[in-house]
Amino acid sequence: MRIVETKAQVRAQVRRWRDAGEKVTLVPTMGALHQAHVNLVRLAQRSGRAAVSIFVNPTQFAPGEDFERYPRDLEADAALLRRAGADLMFAPATEEVYPRGLGDLTRVETPGLSAELCGARRPAHFAGVTSVVARLLLITLPDAVIFGRKDYQQLVILRRMVEDLHIPVEVVEGPITREEDGLAMSSRNRYLSSGERRVAPRLNAVLLECAERLRDGERDFARLERDAAARLERNGFVPDYVAVRRAGDLGLPSASEPCAWVVLAAAWLGAARLIDNVACSPPPGEPIA
Ligand code: PAF
Repeated sequence: MRIVETKAQVRAQVRRWRDAGEKVTLVPTMGALHQAHVNLVRLAQRSGRAAVSIFVNPTQFAPGEDFERYPRDLEADAALLRRAGADLMFAPATEEVYPRGLGDLTRVETPGLSAELCGARRPAHFAGVTSVVARLLLITLPDAVIFGRKDYQQLVILRRMVEDLHIPVEVVEGPITREEDGLAMSSRNRYLSSGERRVAPRLNAVLLECAERLRDGERDFARLERDAAARLERNGFVPDYVAVRRAGDLGLPSASEPCAWVVLAAAWLGAARLIDNVACSPPPGEPIA
C-alpha cells in the first residue's frame, strides 16, 4: 500500500490507475479505523483500486466538540489498511486540504436538510462535511466514492451535493457494520465506559422495535418517535432526536402515502453521542409511494 500526503501525489497515483483502465474508489474517513472501515475498503476493492483518505476535518466540529480528543493513530490506521489490502492511503495535513487556512473558506452548503435531525444540534456540521468532501473528491478525482449508511443523513446530503454540483463521481452506499450485540461500529464507541458499552446496543433495539411497529401498520409517526425517545431515556440515554423519515430524501412521511422509511436517532450515552438508523418498508401488498 502506498502512503501519500500531498494533492499532487494522490492525484498522480489515481490518474495512473485510471489511465490504465482501473476503477478507483475513494473511502473518505477521519481515521481511528475499525472493522466497519475495513468492510468499506473491501467493497471498494471489488471494483478495482481502493484509496482511503484519513483527515480529521476541523470544519465539521463546533467549538467544544471532540475535535481535539478525536482519536488519531496514523500508524495503527496504516497497519489496518495494509492488512485490509487497501491500495492507497492519503493522509493530508490541514494546509493541504485548506491551503488558505480555515478563515474565509470557500464553502459548499446544502441548505434545508443540513439544518434538520443531526444538523439541528450541530448547525455547522454538515457544511463542514460537504466542504471537505467536495475538496477530497476534487483533490483525488476518483471514479467512485463510498459513504457508510450509518451516517445516513450525511449520505443523503452528500448524494445531493454530488448531484447538484455535477461532480462526475459514482456515490456508493456502504452497509452498516454492527457488533454482535447490534451496536453500530463507530470510532466514537471508544468513548463509552464498560457499563455504557453494555447499554449501547439498546439504541439499535429501540429503533428495530419502532420499525416493527411501522411494519405492523402504525402510522402515528409522532407517537412512535415519542415512545422510542422515552424508551431510550429509560435506558439511560439522552436522546437528541428519534425520527421516522422517508428513506429517499429524509422528508417528512405521510400516513396516507406508504413509502420506504428510515428510523433514525442520535442519543448521548455518557460522553459518546451515538447515531444509528434502521430501514423499514410497508408490508408486502401495501403500495409504495
Ligand atoms: O464520515 C466521516 O468520517 C466524515 O464525516 C467524512 C465523510 C470523512 C468527512 O470528513
